[in-house]
Amino acid sequence: MQTTSKMESYSTATNPLEQAAWQALEASILYYQERPVGTIAANDSRVEALNYDQCFVRDFIPSALAFLIRGDAEIVRNFLIETLALQSRDKQIDCFKPGQGLMPASFKVQSFNGKEQLIADFGEQAIGRVTPIDSCLWWLILLRAYVKATGDTKLAHEAEFQHGIRLILDLCLVARFDMYPTLLVPDGAFMIDRRMGVYGRPLEIQVLFYAMLRSAQELLLLDDRNILYLNAVQERLNHLRYHLHEYYWLDFKRLNEIYRYKGEEFGDRAINKFNIYSDSIPQWLTEWLSKTSGYYAGNLGSGWMDFRFFALGNLMAVITGLATDEQSQAIMNLIEQHSQDLIGQMPMKICFPALQDVEWKIVTGYDPKNIPWSYHNGGNWPVLLWMLTAAAVKVGRTETAENAVAIAETSLQADEFPEYYDGRYGHLIGRAARKYQTWTIAGYSVAKAIVANPAYLSLLCFDKDIASVSCKA
Ligand code: GLC
Repeated sequence: MQTTSKMESYSTATNPLEQAAWQALEASILYYQERPVGTIAANDSRVEALNYDQCFVRDFIPSALAFLIRGDAEIVRNFLIETLALQSRDKQIDCFKPGQGLMPASFKVQSFNGKEQLIADFGEQAIGRVTPIDSCLWWLILLRAYVKATGDTKLAHEAEFQHGIRLILDLCLVARFDMYPTLLVPDGAFMIDRRMGVYGRPLEIQVLFYAMLRSAQELLLLDDRNILYLNAVQERLNHLRYHLHEYYWLDFKRLNEIYRYKGEEFGDRAINKFNIYSDSIPQWLTEWLSKTSGYYAGNLGSGWMDFRFFALGNLMAVITGLATDEQSQAIMNLIEQHSQDLIGQMPMKICFPALQDVEWKIVTGYDPKNIPWSYHNGGNWPVLLWMLTAAAVKVGRTETAENAVAIAETSLQADEFPEYYDGRYGHLIGRAARKYQTWTIAGYSVAKAIVANPAYLSLLCFDKDIASVSCKA
């Protein structure tokens, strides 16, 4: 079905680099029964494909945004329909099967007796054998972006889609071994899909959870069945926002409080709610934070605050409006004040700082791909360029957005659009990086489009206050 765009579509680039990116993006399209249904993760024939010839849900997000922005919504519609059909549906109690409501990490097209089928991977085949918790969150965020771009609310209101949304909510709102509003997940449940000490309540999952709940709120029809869900969503949103604002947010004032924390407090009057010991504040942080900067901590649990800065969670907090205006400005201040650390020679660093020495050994299990300043452990990922640009434009830092794009432009094409970069400042092409990595390519196209027309931000932007005005874009 042909869908019409509600947005002004981005006139296909005039600059040669953008044109090359659009062509490379088109070359990565995955077809199923002659319909475009997604994009493969990388188009690099020089190395063994492993699962990079599959369409990953998270990797498809920047591709989908690029297609929507270009007014080409059909592939996104097909993707949403096909991945919904792959959502785990059985209410089984077989512990080896994906839980009901889960969306796959990736899928591929396979032929059986001349007939094509889509085969999903819920992490059983993936190298780290990790559960892709972010897939169902991204799927719903994308459905909402698609509806915003096309006005095709009919699709989201179809019974199958409403059912799929409810299954995701069932999975995320179910009673569990935890008493916080955040989602408790295993290690490697998102973009960082191997052991990296990101188990528990990692920021990225919490921010995507927030955006997923906001999307569900907009897309669920108000009927007898959904009212229970809508009420539960509203309640969880309130608690989740409060919890993240109150306990994850780190700025100079808060650092001072933690620095003077007392431990071992008992009962409901405790100030140090998670029994964090001030000696766990890393040395680098006291010199890194300024009076005008701040960010959301990477993780929070009993006796544990992960002080590392994670780019995706912080940037998406700005884009989705989870972060307040002041917090958004403070996050951008931090990025600008530490542009060498966080942007370096390729926007942007996935997390800062890298785990080193014995910490790297214990936390990653001696993972040679995640050595310090490489890959997930402090590597620079050009896919993050679109989020950096979107966040910067949203809070009025157009110059930062333009500079970041200009830095990427100096080497992206010559380096053949790598998956990631290594080194303290991201100046080396990642040792095991694929070339022609699709989300690098799509991320660049989306970044350019957002700088040219900030109205595209509305695809991912939510009202600041749950009950109030629209975003700035
Ligand atoms: C790596 C990344 C993951 C990505 C996948 C495909 O496993 O860690 O985030 O989805 O490659 O590009």
